[in-house]
Amino acid sequence: MENALNKKMGEELKQDKASLLVVDDEKGIRDIFSRILTEEGYQVETAEDGYQAMRAFKKRPFDLVLADIKMPGMDGIKLLEEIKKINSETEVLIITGYSSVESAAQAVGLGASAYILKPTDINNLSLDIESALIKQRLRKENNLLMERLQRVNKKNASILEDLKGSYKELKATEAKLIQSAKLAAIGTLAAGVAHELSNPLTIIAGRTELLLMDEEKDPESRNNLMVTMQQVDRAEKIVQNLLSFSRRCEQHLRPIEANPLLQETIDLLEYQLSHNRIRVTRKFEPELPKMLGDGNQLQQAFVNIITNACQSMRKGGILTVATRKTMGKNDIHPLSRSADLTFFPKVSQNKRRISNNGVSLQIDFSDTGCGIASKNLSKAFEPFFTTKPSGTGLGLSITHDIVKAHNGIIGVASKRGKGTTFSLIFPTWNGNPG
Ligand SMILES: Nc1ncnc2c1ncn2[C@@H]1O[C@H](COP(=O)(O)OP(=O)(O)OP(=O)(O)O)[C@@H](O)[C@H]1O
Ligand SMILES: [Mg+2]
Repeated sequence: MENALNKKMGEELKQDKASLLVVDDEKGIRDIFSRILTEEGYQVETAEDGYQAMRAFKKRPFDLVLADIKMPGMDGIKLLEEIKKINSETEVLIITGYSSVESAAQAVGLGASAYILKPTDINNLSLDIESALIKQRLRKENNLLMERLQRVNKKNASILEDLKGSYKELKATEAKLIQSAKLAAIGTLAAGVAHELSNPLTIIAGRTELLLMDEEKDPESRNNLMVTMQQVDRAEKIVQNLLSFSRRCEQHLRPIEANPLLQETIDLLEYQLSHNRIRVTRKFEPELPKMLGDGNQLQQAFVNIITNACQSMRKGGILTVATRKTMGKNDIHPLSRSADLTFFPKVSQNKRRISNNGVSLQIDFSDTGCGIASKNLSKAFEPFFTTKPSGTGLGLSITHDIVKAHNGIIGVASKRGKGTTFSLIFPTWNGNPG
């Protein structure tokens, strides 16, 4: 079976006309080898010494070199060494008139395929040539297969990596789904409770106000009623937050100019800001492109962020509100550039929202407050996450939803003790009515 295979390969080699270089200083031997091997189907060239052989070899690499060991100038062993330096794939058969164990070992050590004794039996020589060429071809094919195998392995590895990535994403999405299902359930429940609480709270507030109107009340009772009123106000705020969190309001989109809307919001919060000794610095870029949005919702998002800023600057501070036109993803940076913005979700996952080179609108709110611990950065947007004794933890989550509903993204950069920047990036209005 193996013999038949070798025979078939031998035939193929001749058909492909394997190239042979016969190197011998005796013309008679060169001629006879050349004639017989050409008849056998090989492409044969001859050289009378090592130098001539090297010149021929540099012109074209032969598949096999048949070299006499004893030649003037460069001997067969040296020639074998030089050829292997140029092309280690070339088979070299060494022929010698004197058998010497040393030279045979040297030749084999240098990579000779066979060591043949003179007088040469032409049939044996032919078989040696054929088997050397078959070995060479098998080696080449093997190398090709190995290369292919490596490529396949590499591809498999990258498929495996992709799969691992997809699995991770799937797991994350699954977790998010479970979380949002839970939140939806909580939302519905909270909406119901908030709705039920709303009426009694209004009644309590009304009655307390009535009692407060009675001017004959002693100071202690009046004080108690004032405390009741404050707590009712707080409860009403919580109810309001819960309601806007669970209610999916219909959007009324119109082209919006960010600067006047921000100014309006700042004016609205004027009392709260000055009461907390907060100075507002505006850095509004003039002639901003418009965005498409729902003014009320956007204002709510701004109010939530400014309220947080106020609450973070207990001893007063500076709130900087800035607007700018950004030219693509790489142009987005926070006001101070001192900290990196982290976007939720990441900018890279928002290619559809924030294009690479398109124009976007950036609105920054920067405070000089207490800052957010880095472990809380991503949690800050989660519903019900709060570090405040009286917070509902819904402000930023509502803001995040509003920004998302406007095809925007929200990012935060914060340093403990230094302050926080919230950046909102929105696509600009393309001129179409919403
Ligand atoms: N500007 C800020 N500076 C420091 N911490 C902030 C800032 N904005 C948000 N945070 C942190 O993020 C948390 C979540 O904010 P979020 O507005 O969602 O809820 P809250 O302010 O705690 O409660 P609510 O807004 O419902 O009254 C805050 O409790 C606070 O720890
Ligand atoms: Mg808040």
